[in-house]
Parts: sequence; structure tokens; C-alpha cells
Amino acid sequence: MSESENIKLLKGRRSIRSYESRDIEDEILTQILETTRWCMSARNLQPWTFHVIRNKELIKEIAKECITGPFIAGAPLLVAIVGDMELSPNWYLHDTCFASLQLALAAWSFGIGTCWIGRINRENVKSLLNLKESDDLLTVLPLGYPKGEIPKPFPRKSLDEIIKCIE
Ligand SMILES: Cc1cc2nc3c(=O)[nH]c(=O)nc-3n(C[C@H](O)[C@H](O)[C@H](O)COP(=O)(O)O)c2cc1C
Repeated sequence: MSESENIKLLKGRRSIRSYESRDIEDEILTQILETTRWCMSARNLQPWTFHVIRNKELIKEIAKECITGPFIAGAPLLVAIVGDMELSPNWYLHDTCFASLQLALAAWSFGIGTCWIGRINRENVKSLLNLKESDDLLTVLPLGYPKGEIPKPFPRKSLDEIIKCIE
């Protein structure tokens, strides 16, 4: 059976760490965020906000706080994904993680790359963005058109390794 376009999108997405300097068009950014808005969330509480950062100086300041993602300094735009811990104390983390994937896939459908950044001095970035105590900074996603070749995929575990059939 041949792969559908959607399956190709899901399997073909790669983390992108090098970006062209050209801006992300407003209409495309809106479509990416509009798609992210439709993500699933526990009790449909949607405990998230998306902070779009285009200011080059601020991008550089934030990049300095990204221990495992200093390359985000080269992105034309960042989206900080922020969870509302008050609104959904038990599920904000799950919901914002799902939203980050939905955003990454929506971006990829427009040929725009991103990369999840794990190690961040989160309190420092929270201050730079004037976030509240009850805000959880999940991650900062760089968005940009990939510079150069799309990286080859890292190998994945085989289905045999990860599927346990319960008889
Ligand atoms: C929770 C999480 C944290 C990650 N943190 C980083 C990171 O800090 N820096 C980085 O360069 N990539 C990071 N990545 C990207 C992974 O390295 C990448 O998804 C993985 O190697 C598979 O490659 P692919 O996304 O190109 O398929 C992270 C991914 C996830 C899901």
C-alpha cells in the first residue's frame, strides 16, 4: 500500500537546526498557529498561549539561555509555548507537549522546520518574556526555512522491538 501524503508528512518531518534568514510570511504563521489551536487537550481546557518573537535582539538573548539549542539564534522567529498551570494543573504539560507537536507538523507542511529544545534556563526566559509565576515555559520552538539539505533521519527502533502483543 502506498503512503498517503499525511503519513509522508508525519514520517518525513526532521528536526531542523539551521535556517535561512528569510522571514516566515504572516499568513503562513497564522495558518500554523490556527492549526495548533485545534490540538487536543484534557477537558478541552486549551491551557496554552503561544508567544511569537521576531525581535532579533530578544531572539539572541533567549538563545543564550538555551543550553542545548544555541542555534535558535539563527532562526527568524521563535514561538515560546507556555502552559497555564492554574487552569489545568494535572494536564498542562501533556497538552502543551501535544500542541508543540501539532505546531511542528503544521510548520513542516509548509516546508518550515523547527526543533524541540529541552535544556533551557527556563526561569531566565520567563523573565525575558515577562511571564507569570503560574506560567510554565514548555519550550521555545525556532521556526525557519531549512538551510541546505534536510538532515537524514536517525534510525528508529524496529516495530518488533517496540510492539508487545498481548494474547
Ligand atoms: C523532548 C525533546 C527534547 C529535545 N531536546 C533537544 C535539544 O535540546 N536540542 C536539540 O538539538 N534537539 C532536541 N530534540 C530533538 C531530538 O534530538 C530529535 O527529535 C531526535 O533526534 C529525532 O530526530 P528527528 O526529530 O529529526 O526525527 C528534542 C526532542 C524532544 C522530543
